[in-house]
Amino acid sequence: MALARPLRIPKGFLLGTASAAHQVEGGLWNDWMRMERDEPGRVKNGDSAAVAIDHFRRYREDLALLAAMGHTAQRFSVEWARVEPEPGHFDLSALRHYVDVVAACRELGMEPVVTLHHFTLPVWLADRGGVLDPEAPRLFARYAAACAEAFGEEVRWWVTLNEPNVLMALGYAEGEWPPHRRSPALALRAAAGMLRMHAAAATALHQVSATHGRPAMVSIAHHERPFRPVPRSIAARCVAWVPDLLFNRWFLWSCARGRVLPPAGSGQVVPGLRGSLDYLGLNYYADERVRFDWRASSRLFVSSDPDPALPRNSLGWSIDPAGLRRALVSLSDEFRLPLLVTENGVADEDDELRSGFLLDHLRAAVEAIADGADVLGYLHWTGFDNFEWLEGYGAKFGLVAVDRATLERRPKPSAEVFADVCRTGVIPTPRHPSGMRVGAAPRAGPPTG
Ligand code: BGC
Repeated sequence: MALARPLRIPKGFLLGTASAAHQVEGGLWNDWMRMERDEPGRVKNGDSAAVAIDHFRRYREDLALLAAMGHTAQRFSVEWARVEPEPGHFDLSALRHYVDVVAACRELGMEPVVTLHHFTLPVWLADRGGVLDPEAPRLFARYAAACAEAFGEEVRWWVTLNEPNVLMALGYAEGEWPPHRRSPALALRAAAGMLRMHAAAATALHQVSATHGRPAMVSIAHHERPFRPVPRSIAARCVAWVPDLLFNRWFLWSCARGRVLPPAGSGQVVPGLRGSLDYLGLNYYADERVRFDWRASSRLFVSSDPDPALPRNSLGWSIDPAGLRRALVSLSDEFRLPLLVTENGVADEDDELRSGFLLDHLRAAVEAIADGADVLGYLHWTGFDNFEWLEGYGAKFGLVAVDRATLERRPKPSAEVFADVCRTGVIPTPRHPSGMRVGAAPRAGPPTG
């Protein structure tokens, strides 16, 4: 394997981390908290985000720690349930909190990237149907406008919805996440509902930002997980392309055409949808090698069948940095938009994989520029070990460890590796290629990168 040479990162390329309110803040009340209270068995070990990492109170120190590591950007989400605890009642102190978070990012030299919806909903909206509520687009736009007005020209980069395809799959098709409504028909309705919500919020953000000096750059954070059929399996090849298109392309194609495309619609025009994407936020973790499985009806008859030649993270996801480069290039070729890696990270118990993973994926992102993709930055998932949805605190994605008893923060060795890159602007030759455990013999199969 030829060793990669040190690579210089272009000037102005954003480097930092991403997080989500429910996973870090603590002290929240939303549809996930209600599930965690009412059905504690759903989350591994009965974990709950009640305290999370107490970031709501410790955000200043947390942000200062990231900035001290040379980060130039910070993606976080505003919690709708905090800002609008009752329909139409906006809590000014909650809004002020987020205004402060934005101000802290700016003071610390980090570009804020603000997500408006990262999986959780206020219970009042969940109770009236959540993303299926025909009023959801109007309500979401009203909340988006309130945030845009509060932040003024301090925020340029917006993410309306985080991973609508994941919420469609896990909240509806598979029904494991709130609202636990396992139905293919509802999954399609939810997808159409989120498309309308995105269009309405994007319109509001563009309108409000037109009144001040910093035009909004709006996107969703699109989770790209290409479904790759097991080689030589005709059955897998026949069944993989439908879920692949539904999961990886339907939302983006609908945005590009400005219409609710089949099978979730019949081409209805959605006001504000066309032109709603100023850039494309990409969350990339892994490609998914799949095979035909007649029992997996909620996954359209495909099941995961990881490539034995690739190393895997602690959740079993394959590690292959080339996949990030492929994803960036194919999205760029198809949609002709600037791209921001809004998430990329690795579940890694002991920080053995993260340094190599990070360097190799960052390298892949920068190399995609040479292939013609306009890649604006790379935001690693995530700064601090946090509440990983149904995995609870067991899956560790952070650059910084958080002691569950004392909540003390302790940067991991990978945090220093990333800090070096941020400070020098150079991606060094990886000492430990992606997927190889530091201090351990290489696992079966060739390391990548
Ligand atoms: C989500 C994050 C999550 C991460 C790791 C992404 O799909 O946006 O909230 O923690 O994956 O599973």
